[in-house]
Amino acid sequence: MNDERDPKQFSGATQATRAVHGGESRSRAHHALAQPIVQTATYTFDDTADLVRYMEGHGGQGREEYGRYGNPTVRALEEKVASLEGTADALAFASGMAAVTTSILALTKAGSHVVLFSDCYRRTRQFVTGFLDRFGVRATLVPPADLDALEAALTKDTRLVVSEAPTNPYQTVLDLDRLSAICKARRIKTMIDATFATPINLRPAEHGIDLVVHSATKYLGGHNDVLGGVVAGPEGLVSMVRDARHVLGGVLDPHAAYLIHRGVKTLAVRVAQQNRTALALAQALEGHPRIRRVWYPGLASHPSHEIAKKLMRGFGGVVTFAVKGDLASVGRVVDAMKIPRIAPSLGGVESLVEQPALMSFFELSSEERLALGMSDDLVRYAVGLEDTDELVADVLAALEVAAREVDRGA
Ligand SMILES: Cc1ncc(COP(=O)(O)O)c(C=O)c1O
Repeated sequence: MNDERDPKQFSGATQATRAVHGGESRSRAHHALAQPIVQTATYTFDDTADLVRYMEGHGGQGREEYGRYGNPTVRALEEKVASLEGTADALAFASGMAAVTTSILALTKAGSHVVLFSDCYRRTRQFVTGFLDRFGVRATLVPPADLDALEAALTKDTRLVVSEAPTNPYQTVLDLDRLSAICKARRIKTMIDATFATPINLRPAEHGIDLVVHSATKYLGGHNDVLGGVVAGPEGLVSMVRDARHVLGGVLDPHAAYLIHRGVKTLAVRVAQQNRTALALAQALEGHPRIRRVWYPGLASHPSHEIAKKLMRGFGGVVTFAVKGDLASVGRVVDAMKIPRIAPSLGGVESLVEQPALMSFFELSSEERLALGMSDDLVRYAVGLEDTDELVADVLAALEVAAREVDRGA
């Protein structure tokens, strides 16, 4: 039995086994099986000699000084994520955005140039294009998955390239092997937000990506009840991000860390089920007379299907589709669905549905939305853990109910 906390302890194991045991210490306070929540803001020293030993670096492994610098419950989550991502280390944050912004700040300085694929999460885009310029960091946006445009955008000052895989809402999957080869040849770091994929479906580090980030609020937590974020990568880079976290302070609370750690234990089974349900939903909708188009990387019709097949072990739990009709008639379809709740977010046990035109892009006109590639007929459906057949039947019935309302002139 291995009593050491060692993220590589299960490095030869499957993702399902790692999700349960990866990065965990076998010896716990009071022989507890579950991960204890160490709910403290600070840590004590026995006497000044103990403090001096700690400060000199001989104070014992895993020991912490102050809550902003570390916490054993948070560390347990970090080591589990590192085990799942196959990286040397990982760090947890108070939200996905804290992970994204702290990592980008850690890797850039005045005069740096960052390239971002334009279909990134809009707050990441806002940070890179609207905040970093205040500190002298320049940014260029390139079209989704366009690696030729990426190459053309690189300059001698480019330090970092940021993308997501798959992206939202069209679920474009970038060729990560080619991306990392292009960037490594120029000593440029790459960061992939793999929130939609999860480490069950995709491990960007296997494809040479330097930093992997997640909004742990989504699949890792998995229960729509906690906010968090993580970044995973090699020791040197993670240590730079850790130093930035010490200063910026976006640390994860120990209780939230416990909830996410518990969530990750069931990640593999949840994601496998969500992959199955989403594929069934996408297949049921494709070719349906009331549907204009479906975007799901598991469908042969998706522009990224071949790359997704190469990189991903499953195609994820989000299906985006366009319903024939206008904003109001699409709203009637959403309202007629009985299972999903209308809410932003994804990756939890409850199915969630949203119309991008009424959520992230509400303040824009239909024309402005269209210019950004967001038509008014779009629906993003994030499947939960409800029964696959019931969930698909619910969406198909909603399409019929809404169509009857239109026929009646409602
Ligand atoms: C892909 C992606 N990255 C990052 C974030 C931000 O995460 P959080 O809401 O946990 O800050 C989100 C949130 O929706 C997201 O969808």
